Amino acid sequence: MIKTVEWVSEGVRMIDQLRLPVEEVYPVFRTCGEVAEAIRTMVVRGAPAIGVAAAMGIALGVKSAAGLDRKNSVAQFNTCCETLRTTRPTAVNLFWAIARMKKKFESLTSTPDGFDPREVAREMEKEALKIYEEDIACNKAMAEHGARLIPQDAAVLTHCNAGALATAGYYGTALGVIKAAHEQGKHISVWVDETRPYLQGARLTAWECEKEGIPHTLITDNMAGHFMKRGQVQCVVVGADRIAANGDTANKIGTYSLSVLAKEHHIPFFVVAPQSSIDPTLKSGEEIPIEERSSREVTHIRNVQIAPDGTRAAHPAFDVTPAQNIHNIITEHGILYKPFSESIAALFAE
Ligand code: MRU
Repeated sequence: MIKTVEWVSEGVRMIDQLRLPVEEVYPVFRTCGEVAEAIRTMVVRGAPAIGVAAAMGIALGVKSAAGLDRKNSVAQFNTCCETLRTTRPTAVNLFWAIARMKKKFESLTSTPDGFDPREVAREMEKEALKIYEEDIACNKAMAEHGARLIPQDAAVLTHCNAGALATAGYYGTALGVIKAAHEQGKHISVWVDETRPYLQGARLTAWECEKEGIPHTLITDNMAGHFMKRGQVQCVVVGADRIAANGDTANKIGTYSLSVLAKEHHIPFFVVAPQSSIDPTLKSGEEIPIEERSSREVTHIRNVQIAPDGTRAAHPAFDVTPAQNIHNIITEHGILYKPFSESIAALFAE
């Protein structure tokens, strides 16, 4: 099992995704600030993984405040949450995890009598571990539900990395569905989209497929249409960073173009994401904040300059796929059908 994020006695241990696939190293992050920096610099990335790391970062922050009185402990907690909140704007799992840890902290610290900071720290650690375990359970459930949609002998195209590396570990979301179909003996093969500019497909998804023994072929993003037109893609399976109440889905830049190509070629397009990636407060994808990253990530690849000096480059890190281009959304609770505004509302009403 790939252990993406793990709580250890010295802090939070995470596989350094910046160094994959060349090196597999697991540094330990010892403070809330260090975890926040790891999220910001994408040592850890992928919506669910960011949420789990943030929860553990908060638990670390509370642990380090265990010698403080209530007032200072609350102040330190709030600073930690704020530091994490400003790391990356699009993946809603980050804000979901912060809100959940905040609710727990408030329930533990709002009692008028008796404030035991060590007990609070222990309980916050337990809550972070619960979030971690729930994420792994979600992976397993999504994989089981989603694998039913993958046909025998299918060539499945995926974008970015929505595997174990994008979650607490184990299966992943979109790649989890692919892994389950592979384990069921469906003779799956995977088209791995390189995923410019950050190359999560080439660096991370290809690494995971290789580790799991899943047949795969790496392609550059602009090859997808060619293979679809030739009938060599049976379905597209992607993850999500934030899904609005109507099913519009923000995912890695390039996902929208793939959905248009899939529609043109009548290829089913599936989104796999836990309920924590759905933001029912946003009516449509128009309201999803899109992270703008450094243009250097476009003009350079791993510090090697590929564009002339002074070239202006745009870098929206995500785009929004309209609900109408999506066949199904697969969550840990099952397969959602259209109209998504109704199936998502029903999910949150449960
Ligand atoms: O910028 P990243 O690498 O954090 O973006 C990740 C993605 O877009 C994934 O496809 C998404 O988070 C789904 S991961 C289960």
